[in-house]
Amino acid sequence: MASSKMAFAAILIASLFFTASLAFPAHHEGAYPTGQSPKPGLSPDYYKVTCPQADEIVVSVLKKAIAKEQRIAASLLRLLFHDCFVQGCDASVLLDDNDGVVSEKNAIPNKNSIRGFEVIDEIKAALEEACPHTVSCADTIALAARGSTVLSGGPYWELPLGRKDSKTANMKLANKNLPPPNATLHRLINFFQRQGLGKVDLVALSGSHTIGAARCVSFKQRLYNQHRDNKPDRTLEKTLYHTLASVCPRTGGDNNIRPLDFASPAKFDNAYYQLILEGRGLLNSDQVLWTGSDPEVAGLVRSYAENKHLFFQHYVDSITRMGNISPLTGYSGEIRKNCRVVNKHIQ
Ligand code: HEM
Ligand SMILES: *[C@@H]1O[C@H](CO)[C@@H](O)[C@H](O)[C@H]1NC(C)=O
Repeated sequence: MASSKMAFAAILIASLFFTASLAFPAHHEGAYPTGQSPKPGLSPDYYKVTCPQADEIVVSVLKKAIAKEQRIAASLLRLLFHDCFVQGCDASVLLDDNDGVVSEKNAIPNKNSIRGFEVIDEIKAALEEACPHTVSCADTIALAARGSTVLSGGPYWELPLGRKDSKTANMKLANKNLPPPNATLHRLINFFQRQGLGKVDLVALSGSHTIGAARCVSFKQRLYNQHRDNKPDRTLEKTLYHTLASVCPRTGGDNNIRPLDFASPAKFDNAYYQLILEGRGLLNSDQVLWTGSDPEVAGLVRSYAENKHLFFQHYVDSITRMGNISPLTGYSGEIRKNCRVVNKHIQ
C-alpha cells in the first residue's frame, strides 16, 4: 500500500517535471549545464522513420566537398562549436542579417573566419529534396561535423538528433561566449564552465585543432608582443617561431594562414597534443593547455599525446556533451527550409 503510494507520487513528480520542461524549453542565454540526465530530448533514431538516409546524404555531399577542398572538413567541425556556444545548438550561427536578425557571422570571432556555409546549404538542399521539411539545420550542422571528423580519420560517435532551429540569432552573445585565441587558461576554463563543460571537455575538444588552419591575426600577438613587451612568447619553440614570423610579418599579412597542426593538418589524430608538448602549438589557447600551470589540464595533454585511443574516447564523450547544449526540442523552434533565414509564416 505504502509502496504503491510512493510509486504514484514518483510518477506524479516525474510528470510534473516533464510538463515543466516542455513549458520552459531549455534555452537560456549563456550558462546552461549540459551532459546531465535527463537528456534534452534528443535521440540517435530521431529520423529513423522520417529520413533514414539523412546521414548517407550528408556524407555523400561531404565527400565531394572535401575532395574539392580538404580544409572544409575543419571549417564544418568548427561550425558546431560556434553554433552550440551561442544560445545552444540551434543553427543560430547560420542566419544571415535580415529583418530582426543581427547575424552572428559578423561577431568578432566569426567575421572573415568562419566558413562552410555554402556546403551546409548544399547538404540542406539535398536533405530537403529527399525528405522535405524534416531535418533541421541544427542537426545538419551536427551531422556535418561528425561526418567531417570521421572522413578526416577521427572517431565516429552515436549522434543524438532532433534539434529544432532558432528564430533568432545573437551577435552580442557570440562576442561574449566564444573564447578568443589569446585567452589565458583560467579564462578558457571559465568559457567552458559557462556552457556546463569541464576541463576534460576543454582539453579534448581543443584537439579539434588537429585539423584546419588559423589566420596570422589569430596568433600574431605571440610573435611580436606577447606580454605587451614587444617580445615573442617564450613558450613558442624557436624553429616554429621563425617559420611563423616569415609568414606573418609584424604589419600586414593578417589573413595569411598556417595549419593548426602542421605535422598532419588534414588528419584527425593526436599529433596536436604531441606538438604542444614541444612548444609547437599554434594558438596561445593551444599552448597554455600545457604551460598554464594546471596539473590536471597538462596531465590530460600528456595522456592524449601518448594515447590516441584515450583522446578519441574522451573526444566522443565531450563532443556529445557539446552537441547537447540547450537544444530546442518539441514545439520550440522550427525546421528552417533555408538555413540562412527563418521561415515565413503565412498570416
Ligand atoms: C578552446 C577554445 C578555442 C579557441 C580559443 C579557438 C580559437 C580558434 C581560432 C582563433 C581559430 C582560427 C580562426 C581564424 O584564424 O580564422 C580556430 C580554428 C578552428 N577551431 Fe577553434 N578554438 C577553440 C576551441 C575549438 C573547439 C571546441 C572546436 C571544435 C569542437 C574548434 C574547432 C576549430 C577548427 C576545426 C578550426 C579550423 C577551422 C578552419 O580551418 O576553417 N575549436 N579556433
Ligand atoms: C587579446 O587580444 C585583444 C585584441 O587584440 C586585446 O584587446 C587583449 O588585450 C588581448 N588579451 C591578452 C590577455 O593579451
